[in-house]
Amino acid sequence: MQRLKGFREFFPEPLPPGEEWSCDLRQHIFDCWRTTARRYGFREYDGPPVEPLDLYKAKSGDEIVSQLFNFQDKGKDEVSLRPEMTPTVARMIAAAERAYRKPIKWFSMPQLFRYEAPQKGRLREHFQLNCDLYGEEDPAADAEVVALLIDVLRSLGLTEEDFVVRLSSRKAWQAFYETQGGKPEHAYDFFQAVDKMERDDAETIAKRLAPTGVTPESVKSFIEAGIPTVELQGILDNLSARGLGSFVKVDYGVIRGLAYYTGVVFEAFDRKGEFRAIAGGGRYDNLVGLLSGGKVKMPALGFGMGDVVLALLLRKRGKVPSFASTVDVVVLIEDETLRPESLGLVQRLRESGRAVDYSLTPMKSDKQFKRALELGASHWARLERGAEGAQVRVKNLKTRAEQVGPVDSVLTFL
Ligand code: HAM
Repeated sequence: MQRLKGFREFFPEPLPPGEEWSCDLRQHIFDCWRTTARRYGFREYDGPPVEPLDLYKAKSGDEIVSQLFNFQDKGKDEVSLRPEMTPTVARMIAAAERAYRKPIKWFSMPQLFRYEAPQKGRLREHFQLNCDLYGEEDPAADAEVVALLIDVLRSLGLTEEDFVVRLSSRKAWQAFYETQGGKPEHAYDFFQAVDKMERDDAETIAKRLAPTGVTPESVKSFIEAGIPTVELQGILDNLSARGLGSFVKVDYGVIRGLAYYTGVVFEAFDRKGEFRAIAGGGRYDNLVGLLSGGKVKMPALGFGMGDVVLALLLRKRGKVPSFASTVDVVVLIEDETLRPESLGLVQRLRESGRAVDYSLTPMKSDKQFKRALELGASHWARLERGAEGAQVRVKNLKTRAEQVGPVDSVLTFL
């Protein structure tokens, strides 16, 4: 039986022939995501993987709703696998914000599901780092979130030569739309048209823009001029003060497809333009109000970064570390009469926090040794019978140095 289209299986390295998704690489990405988010004072949260269908209808926008993995459950409720985390976290914040000091800074690393046509960088499931900041209107918060995005990518070894954050503003687009005499009832269609401009041909662009009353030429010249608003300039200055200025540029070609964004928006791309977006986010100051029926008003912003494009990019740029070493010590059992004591040694080493492996059944000693090398162990340890009972011999496989002594001294040899 085959796995479903657009879903992945993650294998331990080395990968079997024909497979491309590494569980070791996934763990490396998760570690960098978590460590960097914590460095910025973000706290981890999680939510349900299945949600009421209504949570996404009208809040996320048509594109995501058309991609939902939704169904009727056995209790006849209309539900959906989560396609994104933002509505869930906004609902959690609306319900629990009083228990937390502002600004609230939270992160999560959910697996998300979208029924998309699978293509390079887009699958039907992915893991997504979500970092969101609630309760602060000042653009200092936008700069902080963008700085976090940049530092997450830097923690994975990517540099300003590898990626750029394209910064834009829905407010700037809204103002442009109004000065062009755009019809208010078509504002959402206009944002959608701009969002797809980079992928569409001239004819489709013209068709999409026609009902809005704005011409493709005026849109293009607005993007080309790229004059930062006061708000965007403040964010650029803030990032420059941290030495991160070279990682960002104002680019009105970005507008974001999701319906709930209200202000600054941004997307991270690889510099060579080979891949789809690595991450995207922005301000969504009205979503908490919408989800709480107007009870709670709370400015909000954040971003999502998927693992799919990221893994492809890391491989392409040679930034994937070696995952050769999976165990620290292999205990060799060459004398089967010493197996019970050897099991005691294995246990003791594991309790000391080391990753330890050994042969479960009798095996020729050269095979055991070969296995230790394959596993990338830094040491092997072996019990031997000495004149005064059992002793331990430890070999450092890097320096080739050997030490022998009483079994109790094993930890000092490692
Ligand atoms: P999004 O732009 O839909 O935003 O997704 C963010 C990132 O998730 C994308 O840039 C991409 O890396 C990854 N991604 C999205 N869909 C797929 C897919 N089908 N396959 C692989 N990767 C994918 C959001 O989801 C917003 N909720 C992010 C956000 C958080 N905004 C504010 N806070």
